[in-house]
Amino acid sequence: MTIIVTGGAGFIGSNFVFHMLEKYPDYRIVCVDKLTYAGNLSTLAPVMDNPNFRFCKIDICDREAIYQLFEEEHPDMVVNFAAESHVDRSIKDPFTFARTNVMGTLSLLQAAKVYWESLPEKYEGKRFYHISTDEVYGALEMTHPEGIEPPFTTTASSSEHHLAYGKDFFYEDTKYNPHSPYSASKASSDHFVRAFHDTYGMPTIVTNCSNNYGPYQFPEKLIPLFINNIRHRKPLPVYGKGENVRDWLYVEDHARAIDVIFHRGKVAETYNIGGFNEWKNIDLIKVIVRTVDRLLGNPEGESEKLITYVTDRAGHDLRYAIDSRKLKNELGWEPSLQFKEGIEKTVRWYLDNQEWMDNVTSGDYQRYYEEMYKD
Ligand code: NAD
Ligand code: DAU
Repeated sequence: MTIIVTGGAGFIGSNFVFHMLEKYPDYRIVCVDKLTYAGNLSTLAPVMDNPNFRFCKIDICDREAIYQLFEEEHPDMVVNFAAESHVDRSIKDPFTFARTNVMGTLSLLQAAKVYWESLPEKYEGKRFYHISTDEVYGALEMTHPEGIEPPFTTTASSSEHHLAYGKDFFYEDTKYNPHSPYSASKASSDHFVRAFHDTYGMPTIVTNCSNNYGPYQFPEKLIPLFINNIRHRKPLPVYGKGENVRDWLYVEDHARAIDVIFHRGKVAETYNIGGFNEWKNIDLIKVIVRTVDRLLGNPEGESEKLITYVTDRAGHDLRYAIDSRKLKNELGWEPSLQFKEGIEKTVRWYLDNQEWMDNVTSGDYQRYYEEMYKD
């Protein structure tokens, strides 16, 4: 089996590549990545010498180059992670998001279509798996600001903090209602993927996942940004009042879910993937701050002083909460890691891998950070 994994030098893509190479020694993984500020070859260093792995620096918008790669590698599957992924950047520069997320996905779809349709077996045994987000569904209300017992739970989260902040959840048939340029571009790409199934019969799958956390996430996203800022004694910018709610899932659990759906999911289906693990930003931030302080041996409460309330993100979605019971009931997947354990592992990883953090935040990112927080 040969799988083209796009965006494999980024956060979730790299974790998926590691998972697949370890679990399936017979699979060939061909990673396609443009290496934007968010994609780093140092992330892929652990697998660069693996004979079943090949890295190709290609922009997914370059249809010629992608088609040529299809002819060289004869892929059975494509898993499309490549995207511009940061909401704040999409607010400043929506065009880059439309280019990569919409046109890039379309260019991959078209290359896959032309290549697979040229084969005698056509789409037999082929899959185009597109990675999407819960943000396409819009935002949910917060009807219980203090949180309530959730109506469903998982083995992994049942014995610890697990609250629902409203009565509604995102389901697979929730209507798309994206608000940010990022989520609008992701929604558009999802529609193109489904259109290629409905129009040309391409075997596609789309999954919509909640917020991921874990190793190798670019430190502009909440959790690694805050860990990095504590290390450098920089302010911790909390948007608005810190009341927004996100549903957090450990990245390896996402990789496991993709593996399960990739092998056993039904063509043309959508599956929601989530952690059943809602946190208000400010509560989560306090957990991160306490964990970093404890692991660095700082006095208790030391880094809480760095918390700084800043202007809210424009159009900031209030609450995301995924119902992933379809995936649990049909394919038996659920998160394996307790949140407490996941956060501990994550903070330790960033503190143990400061070289990686310093390496990816040098150069262009420094300039972006200074511009973003110049006020
Ligand atoms: P990331 O920003 O860490 O990585 C994106 C990768 O795509 C980078 O390696 C980058 O170099 C590459 N890339 C960007 N533009 C490209 C282009 N034109 N051609 C080729 N490669 C390009 O993102 P992530 O957090 O790993 O997200 C991966 C996917 O998962 C995205 O599609 C995102 O929308 C989706 N997603 C992310 C989360 C999350 O919490 N991070 C949750 C749900 C879904
Ligand atoms: O829900 C899935 C999505 O999760 C993915 O599709 C996106 O690719 C991914 O970036 C993530 O989007 P968010 O906007 O939720 O993630 P982020 O880490 O940027 O922010 C998490 C929450 O924390 C959000 O409510 C905004 C807030 N925040 C974020 C940053 C970076 C702050 O309060 N301060 C910050 O500095």
